[in-house]
Amino acid sequence: MAEVSVSILNVDKDGAVSKFYNLETAHVDYFHIDVMDGRFVENNNLSQMLDYAITLSHITLVEQDIHLMVQDVEEVLDEYLDLGQNRIAFHIEAMKGSHERTMEIINTIKGNGNKVGLAINPSTPIEEIYEYLPYIHYVLIMTVVPGRGGQALIEDTLDKIKVLKNYCEENDIDIDIEADGGITGDNAQSVRDAGANVLVSGVYLLKSENLREAVDLIKG
Ligand code: DX5
Ligand code: ZN
Repeated sequence: MAEVSVSILNVDKDGAVSKFYNLETAHVDYFHIDVMDGRFVENNNLSQMLDYAITLSHITLVEQDIHLMVQDVEEVLDEYLDLGQNRIAFHIEAMKGSHERTMEIINTIKGNGNKVGLAINPSTPIEEIYEYLPYIHYVLIMTVVPGRGGQALIEDTLDKIKVLKNYCEENDIDIDIEADGGITGDNAQSVRDAGANVLVSGVYLLKSENLREAVDLIKG
């Protein structure tokens, strides 16, 4: 059985709190906060996602799964470190190959008591994050091109999940493999079979008639 992290990217401001309560009641394991700076990806939702994260930190104990789609990670990080023991992932592509900067951010997040993850885009080879695996808690494998919700899952990315899963098993590395983007009740089984144990889902869950059933379908 996998864990489900619901992306709140497409939650409307009006009625957001009751939507959050409904999602919690449907037994989501995490609230996935998609933070976009308008530079790393086209959209900029910095203030709305911070509002949602602050609201959630006041109304629920469900852990936040913060996904920083930002160029300048250090610029936004502090605001999220102040919100409690949530998990925080940033993109390896934003590091522009700097091992030192990547390790600095990993240590800052862990030093604050948070779990840390590295996010990786569909076009980035999975090998680029191997050197960091001993230092992080999870890998956030993008199964869509980051920037918006409601896209279709890119099938090739499932092979990437399989490669990472095999590499972790061969090297005795125990981390979460999180898949993010385009995940629905129809494809969740193949995402789990590929080796992901945390599945992010946004529009599929938010649009579902029966939230609890939809969450259980993704969990497997
Ligand atoms: C895309 C985000 C994903 C996306 C997931 O940039 O990182 O978390 O919002 O939502 P769906 O499931 O609608 O693709
Ligand atoms: Zn995301």
